[in-house]
Amino acid sequence: MNALEIRPLTLEDLPAVKSFTDRAIGDGYYSLPELEKIHQQSLFHAGQKDQKMLTLVLSTPEKQIFGVRITYPPGQWSHGKGKGLNPGSWPHPLSETAYFQSLFIDPELTAHGWGKKLSLKAMEALLQIHAKGIVCHSWKESPHDSSGRYLRGLGFQVIATHPLYWKEVDYTCTRCGKPCLCTAEEMYLDLAPAKGTS
Ligand SMILES: CC(C)(COP(=O)(O)OP(=O)(O)OC[C@H]1O[C@@H](n2cnc3c(N)ncnc32)[C@H](O)[C@@H]1OP(=O)(O)O)[C@@H](O)C(=O)NCCC(=O)NCCS
Repeated sequence: MNALEIRPLTLEDLPAVKSFTDRAIGDGYYSLPELEKIHQQSLFHAGQKDQKMLTLVLSTPEKQIFGVRITYPPGQWSHGKGKGLNPGSWPHPLSETAYFQSLFIDPELTAHGWGKKLSLKAMEALLQIHAKGIVCHSWKESPHDSSGRYLRGLGFQVIATHPLYWKEVDYTCTRCGKPCLCTAEEMYLDLAPAKGTS
């Protein structure tokens, strides 16, 4: 395989990202219009001409997609795909918290550290824009517990468990088909712990 690089998502990538997420997450999990919205929601506007794309892809120079780390800056999201969010239990408010929406790596390439690398790069960008924390919904039944393992490895902690979190999402889960009966763990990473608590 050609060299892989981590780079910001572009509008041109969206059809290839859709094919990738259909294959890796499940058919129909993201539609093209939804990916267009994700592209918009992931753009942080630092000034009129200064924009930063927080969603990253793992790609070949020919723009073949092998992974995606969808990331929203604070203030540009309010909920995930399912129902279940407990901002009252977080160390920082929703308005200062970023969202890790989805991270998927091509099944042939997992366990080589790419997911962690993509996430660390997104975290670096979030620190630059002064996000105080990151929340995500981790897939509890993820193969090899890869989702929980990479998140715990980065320091994320479980806030709450949400059974059947994706049940109402109209897609075919790679594990249980339709409807999806998987469980989400709401997990939080404090990027700005109060002094004496870290
Ligand atoms: C979760 C995921 C994005 C992590 O990316 P990655 O490139 O595999 O990340 P890492 O290489 O850092 O691996 C993370 C952990 O999972 C383990 N893992 C990942 N794939 C594995 C595999 N095929 N077999 C055994 N263990 C595996 C790694 O050994 C590592 O464990 P450790 O931290 O205890 O050493 C990726 O494994 C994936 O796409 N999994 C399926 C989809 C998923 O669960 N996405 C998250 C949804 S919320």
